[in-house]
Amino acid sequence: MSHGLLKGKKGIIFGALNEQSIAWKAALKAREEGAELVLTNTPLSLRLGTMDQLAEQCNALVVPADATSVEDLEGLVDKAMEHFGGQFDFVLHSVGMSPNIRKNKPYEYTNYDFFFKTLDISALSLHKVLGVLYKKDALKEWGSVVALSYIAAQRTFEGYNDMADAKSLLESIARSFGLLYGKKAHVRVNTISQSPTRTSAGSGISGMEDMFAYADALSPLGNASASDCADYIVTLFSDLTKHVTMQNLYHDGGFSSTGLNAEVVETYTKGLKKD
Ligand SMILES: NC(=O)c1ccc[n+]([C@@H]2O[C@H](COP(=O)([O-])OP(=O)(O)OC[C@H]3O[C@@H](n4cnc5c(N)ncnc54)[C@H](O)[C@@H]3O)[C@@H](O)[C@H]2O)c1
Repeated sequence: MSHGLLKGKKGIIFGALNEQSIAWKAALKAREEGAELVLTNTPLSLRLGTMDQLAEQCNALVVPADATSVEDLEGLVDKAMEHFGGQFDFVLHSVGMSPNIRKNKPYEYTNYDFFFKTLDISALSLHKVLGVLYKKDALKEWGSVVALSYIAAQRTFEGYNDMADAKSLLESIARSFGLLYGKKAHVRVNTISQSPTRTSAGSGISGMEDMFAYADALSPLGNASASDCADYIVTLFSDLTKHVTMQNLYHDGGFSSTGLNAEVVETYTKGLKKD
């Protein structure tokens, strides 16, 4: 059911690769709530993925861009402004990739060229996006930028590898730019720290299925799905959250605040007794 939360609003969504992607669900939800969209991803992802299908469903313009290339981002923002007829309202940064994870390089034996790429794609790209938006004065007053993070930025999750460092940097960039863009044009910048979610990016993490099951069992509300995340993203693009900025917002069913849960402890001790 639509609430018309984004009626009259326009924005760019990064990172819809396939139907599982958080960005895919967010695009559908934003459209349902009345937004006009520009969708973007790397040229390779556009070739491999199924973005055309989403673009048709959302009546959106698709503009290829590598989020690590300032030149691509400038082209993207120019095209979006042309398409929208001027400034726009929101941006979703739903971008992440670690070559170390892809190539099974453990954290303690990291490949530093890969590490730099992880940081560039998964964190610095947010700085580059915000930098281009800021310099081109592309966002309207009270605009909203949301990026996606994970709790490994605060606490160590074995197997999350260099993405943990990237997420810490991503959250810090959201705060630093949030101050500057807030002063310039009341633009708010936040990160959502999402539950483990079954997507292409998620499936690369070692032990993802166990991590998913553990988080689901520990969280009083269970894991938040990609669709739930899309709902939350839409609220942050709406005018109902105008004074929320520079925050890392947990969207994880209570996982981040739970130390101990009796059922999980019982399952664990039962497992120990079997040995
Ligand atoms: N899946 C999870 O468990 C989970 C949990 C918390 C946070 N997140 C974060 O959510 C975001 C979206 O991931 P997802 O789970 O929907 O997976 P996904 O694989 O569907 O999305 C990741 C996207 O990043 C894009 N991308 C990679 N390199 C890029 C580049 N150089 N330029 C532009 N785009 C690029 C990919 O093409 C893909 O569309 C990521 O930041 C991820 O870290 C995911």
